[in-house]
Amino acid sequence: MACSDSDYVYLGKLVQAQSANVVDPARKTLFESRLQPLVRVAGAANLEGLVGLLRESRSAPLHRAVAEAMTINETSFFRDVKPFDLLRDEVLPQLIEQRSAERRLRIWSAASSTGQEAYSLAMLLVEHFPQLARWDVRIIGTDLSREVIEYARRGRYRRLEMNRGLPAKLLVKHFRRDEDEWEVSEGLKALCEFEVGNLCVPSVRTFAFDLVLLRNVLLYFSKPDRTAVFREVHRKLSSRGFLVLGNAEQAEDSTELFRAEFSKDCYFYRPIFDEVRNRI
Ligand SMILES: C[S@@+](CC[C@H](N)C(=O)[O-])C[C@H]1O[C@@H](n2cnc3c(N)ncnc32)[C@H](O)[C@@H]1O
Repeated sequence: MACSDSDYVYLGKLVQAQSANVVDPARKTLFESRLQPLVRVAGAANLEGLVGLLRESRSAPLHRAVAEAMTINETSFFRDVKPFDLLRDEVLPQLIEQRSAERRLRIWSAASSTGQEAYSLAMLLVEHFPQLARWDVRIIGTDLSREVIEYARRGRYRRLEMNRGLPAKLLVKHFRRDEDEWEVSEGLKALCEFEVGNLCVPSVRTFAFDLVLLRNVLLYFSKPDRTAVFREVHRKLSSRGFLVLGNAEQAEDSTELFRAEFSKDCYFYRPIFDEVRNRI
């Protein structure tokens, strides 16, 4: 028997509750293809059986696994190019000047997927800001999906992934070939760490980030969830920090929190300082 319309509505609601991602219940084949592996793992006969298990069990891991399976993990090295020019020419020089006394930089690749964004940042730092070798620099990648976080930690990429956005010069310098895969150098790995994290669940981190890259994820969220994430990012940014969104994204619904600026053909955002709040 096939799933009913109400089963797809149920799945859509479950995914949104777990991850804030809005998936139209009419996209039945998307649910079917993405959840097929989970049908087998859960021991169900088909998708309808999986929905039955989800409805009757309060199994948090199974509910989470459904949300993770529905995420879109598309990414690439130096994705969209221009934001990395902006970082190299404007944002990082300013941050380095601001932080020269502490010699510390904290960068968050939020919704990092398989790690190409974090490693691209690491390459940018090593290539253009050699003085940072003596600084305390951390690039922290977080993502809802455990699978992509594991992938990012391994730092091994296939030919197709290497061919997308990575200049040959950087490939040769920062990767080691191992049969069909290329592994990120230990130097870059040492700058990056990856952990599972849901953007909708406030974290208990005590330090503030100087730079947050939050790209190509909020476009899947509803307006109230986007607003909640902007509040949380604002809370986590240092007062003179920077926020970079994806090309198709804007912080238009959070203008009391962020001021938009435009340079190098890109928008980026500065937090509006809130005197009441105690910032780091
Ligand atoms: C399209 S990828 C973008 C990756 C990268 N930021 C980029 O721009 O190339 C979106 C990522 O967001 C993650 N994601 C979706 N919902 C999330 C949530 N609620 N919390 C954390 N990560 C989430 C997905 O797992 C996916 O890896």
